Amino acid sequence: MIYQGEALSVQLLQDGIAELSFDGKGSINKLDRATLLSLEQAVTALEQTPDLNGLMLTSRKDAFIVGADITEFLDMFDLPQARLDDWLSQANRIFNRIEDLPFPTVSLVRGYALGGGCECILATDFRIGDVSARIGLPETKLGLMPGFGGTVRLPRLIGADNAMEWITTGQDNKADVCLALGVLDAVVDTDKLQASAIQLLKDAALGKQDWQAKRAQKTAPLTLDKLEAAMSFNTAKGMVAAKAGPHYPAPMMAVTTIEAAARLDRDQALRIEQSNFITLTQTSVARALVGIFLNDQFIKSKAKQAVRAAEPARKAAVLGAGIMGGGIAYQSAVKGIPAVMKDINDQALTLGMNEAGKLLNKQLERGKIDGTRLATVLTGITPTLSYDGLQGVDTVVEAVVENPKVKAQVLAEVEAHVADDTVIASNTSTIPISTLAKSLKRPERFCGMHFFNPVHRMPLVEIIRGEQTSDDTINRVVAYAAAMGKSPIVVNDCPGFFVNRVLFPYFFGFNQLVADGADFVQVDRVMEQQFGWPMGPAWLLDVVGIDTGHHAAAVMADGFPERMGKSGKDAIDVMYEQQRFGQKNGKGFYDHRRDRKGKPVKEADPESHELLATVAGERSDFEPDDIIARMMIPMINEVVLCLEEGIIDSPAEADMALVYGIGFPPFHGGVFRYLDKMGLAAYVALADKFAHLGPLYHVSSGLRQMAADNKTFY
Ligand SMILES: NC(=O)c1ccc[n+]([C@@H]2O[C@H](COP(=O)([O-])OP(=O)(O)OC[C@H]3O[C@@H](n4cnc5c(N)ncnc54)[C@H](O)[C@@H]3O)[C@@H](O)[C@H]2O)c1
Repeated sequence: MIYQGEALSVQLLQDGIAELSFDGKGSINKLDRATLLSLEQAVTALEQTPDLNGLMLTSRKDAFIVGADITEFLDMFDLPQARLDDWLSQANRIFNRIEDLPFPTVSLVRGYALGGGCECILATDFRIGDVSARIGLPETKLGLMPGFGGTVRLPRLIGADNAMEWITTGQDNKADVCLALGVLDAVVDTDKLQASAIQLLKDAALGKQDWQAKRAQKTAPLTLDKLEAAMSFNTAKGMVAAKAGPHYPAPMMAVTTIEAAARLDRDQALRIEQSNFITLTQTSVARALVGIFLNDQFIKSKAKQAVRAAEPARKAAVLGAGIMGGGIAYQSAVKGIPAVMKDINDQALTLGMNEAGKLLNKQLERGKIDGTRLATVLTGITPTLSYDGLQGVDTVVEAVVENPKVKAQVLAEVEAHVADDTVIASNTSTIPISTLAKSLKRPERFCGMHFFNPVHRMPLVEIIRGEQTSDDTINRVVAYAAAMGKSPIVVNDCPGFFVNRVLFPYFFGFNQLVADGADFVQVDRVMEQQFGWPMGPAWLLDVVGIDTGHHAAAVMADGFPERMGKSGKDAIDVMYEQQRFGQKNGKGFYDHRRDRKGKPVKEADPESHELLATVAGERSDFEPDDIIARMMIPMINEVVLCLEEGIIDSPAEADMALVYGIGFPPFHGGVFRYLDKMGLAAYVALADKFAHLGPLYHVSSGLRQMAADNKTFY
């Protein structure tokens, strides 16, 4: 044994060949600070061991190293910059020392070698993987960029263009791609990894493999002439600007880092990387994106607890084969939980099955699945017009029309046809769960399960706990949502639950802006381009459906009359009265059609401007900041109320529900991260400026107190 640490060890194998093996405490290897320290000691031990002829880096886990320890990030970013600099310098010193060892080195890669794990294997002269190898630098997805030499070694190994693609997209890459590009020197059977590595090191020691040339390539400047360089970097910048956009600075920073370091040797290039990495750690975007990653881990861990506590769903039933029911049955079957899909209408069943077929065919065309898989999924959905098919079903999702009477009847009927311990969930978007529960004999076995449209794509499922819902019911439905590959978040019951309750105040802010003379096209543009929403409010209403929005707005006004009560006709009413239901019938705020490729396109429609003029004051231009404030304050205040009232359990879950349910711009991290960034006192001052607009703009006393006490949510 040459070295033994907590997360790794080094031993002598044979013929002067040493193996440094990562073996972290948990189920995976991470490059956390403790592991780095250990790695440093191991390298010192290697440097001091005489007569070594080669080194291989391996992992005792199924994956090599999954990356740095992201749970350490936010605290670390708060450190004085000199300390951050020390951390990066330490890591870079270690990898440089590995790269400079006086004998050849090779990494053996099974499974993931991501982020710091990828940068670690880039420090060795060779890399051999098996087919399970997945290599990549995902840092830009967290608003960061590689900081342990990735922007320096990868372009020198596979060329600037390939490296920029890897780094700016953050995708991981399969073994065959890595082999073709030269990130891997060979791909061999898993059981031959070690023997191949030993052979390679022996060959290298005998001079049959020019390991020093490999090393020189990584430590020298990039081999690009001026013209090539200009072309490469300009193309990359153009692509990154178009794809990442102005709200996500990390990919562009990665490109300019590689460019600035192109003519420099390793050590000078690393200094540029280090300094730019630190710049990114200080951005609110990195904080927001790292925060989202950590929040996602948090909701996953909560779902895992439910999965451990509950009986898994084995057979489901979905009532209603419409847009939502069809989507839910499909998603269930795709994830291996067969679903009976019941409707009262034969045509609806056909439509539901056709939709599932279309989704599967698309995957078949793209080569993602084969015909057998397509058939298996389709036979997992059983269309039926009768309740007889529901025998043996343990989980029911009701997704019939949004009508309380119909739902009450359907729920009572289905309860009579299933076992006592079958859980029943409603996908209602507006009717309180405790109201629907009244039609059931076993309200403790009932809860809400609010999916978002389109079901197969939207990650969030809101699970709504009614007054009488039991913990076991919640656990089983959470476990079912998780098994469907979704991110379940449990909320308490109230009109609109969490997501719609906070979305509608935003729409009411929109109504009021239009009433005060704002142009809905300008509002959309500002909310999309400046705030970063995927769709502005008018466009979103058109996509949701004006009829649906109109109905839900009435429910919210009823539920919260003091804040959301109506004071006359508004923009949504105008569209509704004119039966301009949005995308579904071609006209809403916008004119909708399909282009030649069948892609939906929209255009501002002068007619809707005329119609809106009937409920609006004189047309006036608004400052973008005022539009953002007037749109966002109602939503933010409502989100805060939901936390104060216990509708949602934590800022982390609220922020994830917003990002996953309605596409809240990830670079803001969610409402609570946004508030923390802005500072609560600054927010209160801003909201107070708009207090004259009505109760939706009034800050809660709780938030006012937090601001006075200089508190934060995270
Ligand atoms: N569409 C959305 O964006 C969306 C999003 C979230 C939640 N929801 C909710 O999902 C539910 C369904 O909405 P949708 O958009 O899929 O509606 P839809 O009109 O597309 O489908 C409703 C289906 O229910 C069927 N149905 C009616 N009565 C029935 C009965 N007694 N038994 C069985 N089936 C019956 C209808 O034939 C129809 O096929 C509603 O509660 C809605 O509020 C919809």
